[in-house]
Amino acid sequence: MTEPSPRNSHETRVFSGVQPTGQLHLGNYLGALSKFVKLQDQHECVFCVVDLHAITVPQKRNVLAENSRQISAAFLACGLDPEKATIFVQSSVPAHAELAWILSCTARMGWLERMTQFKDKAGKDAERSSVGLFSYPVLQAADILAYQATHVPVGDDQKQHLELSRDIAARFNRDYDAPEFFPLPEPLIQGPGARIMSLKDGSVKMSKSDPSDLSRINLNDSPEQITKKFKKARTDPDGVPQEVEGLAGRDGADNLVAIYAALAEISKADVLRQFGGQGWGVFKPALADLAVAKLSPIAERLAQFNNDPAELDRVLRAGADKANAISEPVMQKVREIVGFWRP
Ligand code: TRP
Repeated sequence: MTEPSPRNSHETRVFSGVQPTGQLHLGNYLGALSKFVKLQDQHECVFCVVDLHAITVPQKRNVLAENSRQISAAFLACGLDPEKATIFVQSSVPAHAELAWILSCTARMGWLERMTQFKDKAGKDAERSSVGLFSYPVLQAADILAYQATHVPVGDDQKQHLELSRDIAARFNRDYDAPEFFPLPEPLIQGPGARIMSLKDGSVKMSKSDPSDLSRINLNDSPEQITKKFKKARTDPDGVPQEVEGLAGRDGADNLVAIYAALAEISKADVLRQFGGQGWGVFKPALADLAVAKLSPIAERLAQFNNDPAELDRVLRAGADKANAISEPVMQKVREIVGFWRP
């Protein structure tokens, strides 16, 4: 390298991605989107709908496109503001795929072979899974590094991938003698992570792939559906305890209290101070009312985007332009660092 790598103009830059697979639910909102909304006021933020990641497993073209639209709309409906943050769809910005290739020549086979998510997703028949599923975490590293992002909000399940992104960044900087070119991205762990569980089984995460729709609150559920689902949520014969210790070993009860706490942005202890000693017949309708108050404006905005697809297109195209304006100068440097000749 002839000149020192450009120290980034930004102090911190946050990057995160969400896969366009199916509907978003309350767990996604409390675990990720509501946090993104707070982050956009504190940091420069880049939020991406990661459709390139989605095709690591088979997808139907119309379904994939529709899911990308839905997640994009949900980003905006939840309060992500294109004036504050950069919001876009991954495949509309070429840097991701290009950098993923370059970084796949930096990452080592052995590093990827240790990834537990690949082992979980590929199952017994790893030989038949796509090469893309294996190199998925390299694409994730490219997402982050194409923006020279410094911080990534992550749940527990993504910690190992972020660790790998750091290893790839460090190795690239070293192999190409470009000290500090890529910042080593750090996890951003925000408060006690709200891990929202299924309403039917408090021992498994709320999930869009659960066959029972009663197990989750979708962001576009009507007030009636929300009320009905909480009413049918699994609890136990004991009522709402007075103290947090009283939730131990009662995962259904614990989940409902945790949801209330997360929606109201108070502690579980505060929820129990308010409802301790009451029956679920009192607590559940109060929880449903709170959820409806928080979610119905989101459902309304989602419906607006669905009624005006041109507006959604416009916002996401502008987001892609913004993303490109950040990542393309980084890629120009990368090409130079690697030694590509551009005649
Ligand atoms: N792998 C992440 C998930 O499944 C999604 C993702 C893709 C991501 N690229 C990212 C998350 C970059 C954070 C940063 O949740």
